[in-house]
Amino acid sequence: MSIKRKYVTTLREIENIINSNNFDNKSKIKEVLKILRKNFAKYNWIGIYLLQGDKLVLYEYDGDKETQHKIIPLDKGLCGLAAREKRIVNVSDVSLNPFYLECFPETKSELIIPIFKNGDIIGEIDIDSYKLNAFDSNDEWFITKVASIIVKLYNFI
Ligand code: SME
Repeated sequence: MSIKRKYVTTLREIENIINSNNFDNKSKIKEVLKILRKNFAKYNWIGIYLLQGDKLVLYEYDGDKETQHKIIPLDKGLCGLAAREKRIVNVSDVSLNPFYLECFPETKSELIIPIFKNGDIIGEIDIDSYKLNAFDSNDEWFITKVASIIVKLYNFI
């Protein structure tokens, strides 16, 4: 399957889950994260942090391991940087980045996509990859789309 087709079919799957009446919101998010990790092998750990005051709080994740960073102050880490500057952070080699906060020794690159609601940042999608240089502008586009779909649940999270 071409990568474009994979994006389109995955977005459709995600939309179906978000719009379904069969799960509560937490289960919907968990399912979305599971699908993303299953469909894209380089997405080794994927989590959603929500902004609560001056902290990011882990809402849900899919991955082999738990992170010790369940709460990240806004002045810490790549996650804090993305939230402070309200922008995508795409780091091809985390070992070279002074802001990086390590969760897993295997992680080589990281992508953080803000979740916006009516122009305000309300959280972010954080993806760790065990591959160097894992993420390109297609991943940025795709995960931004995912963020715009899951934000529909935000009032009810
Ligand atoms: N690496 C992140 C912390 C979150 S973990 O990757 C799950 C950071 O630098 O903020």
